[in-house]
Amino acid sequence: MNKVLDNFFVFEGLDGSGKSTQLKLLGNALINIGFNVETTFEPTDNAIGKVVRQALRHEIITTPQALALLYSADRHDHLYNPDYGIEKKTKEGTIVLSDRYFYSSLAYQTVQLDFDYVKTINNYPHPRCVIYLDAPVSLCMERINSRGEAKELFEKEEYLKSVRENFEKAFRELPEGVKLIRIPAELSAVEASLLVLKEIEGYINH
Ligand code: TYD
Repeated sequence: MNKVLDNFFVFEGLDGSGKSTQLKLLGNALINIGFNVETTFEPTDNAIGKVVRQALRHEIITTPQALALLYSADRHDHLYNPDYGIEKKTKEGTIVLSDRYFYSSLAYQTVQLDFDYVKTINNYPHPRCVIYLDAPVSLCMERINSRGEAKELFEKEEYLKSVRENFEKAFRELPEGVKLIRIPAELSAVEASLLVLKEIEGYINH
């Protein structure tokens, strides 16, 4: 099994599932309790992540495989960069919360590519917990549409339906040491954040 990074927690979900809101609420709650917390996201806003975002905005056209490799390269830098890498921060005792991680690659890139291939190029440590915002595609599409912004590459109903199934496949393969916290979409943002905090508390190393 890949190793588990203590003090690393990841939010996953479809576009429009409410991950970013929950991540902010948990970050603030943990800071209020007195923890050292950093929040981050993938694709990052570092050099490689910026190329990924250009592809998402249709500014560059590339192949699904090249994009999968770019997501993975962005992630390697995000984890291991000697200045700002997640591994370094968690070892220093900071709690790192990330909006998306390699489970997103296992869910999104595998719509077009072989699951085992995507898994092979994402041979990275697991976080301590994965918090999955489990929202139906119809609700996510409503939220995406109400943003009124140009649609990104994967923000299509049919695509997201496959992504949702692929998330389940990825989570079935989670090793025992990794806790999956599933948050149902029916909860209000406040109810959901209380549930996340309650579920996560026992998994913080201090
Ligand atoms: P994100 O900025 O989280 O989108 P949103 O805020 O709309 O949820 O992610 C951008 C897009 O990148 C999103 O469609 C999911 C996709 N993605 C992948 O396909 N693979 C990955 O490994 C990651 C991290 C994101």
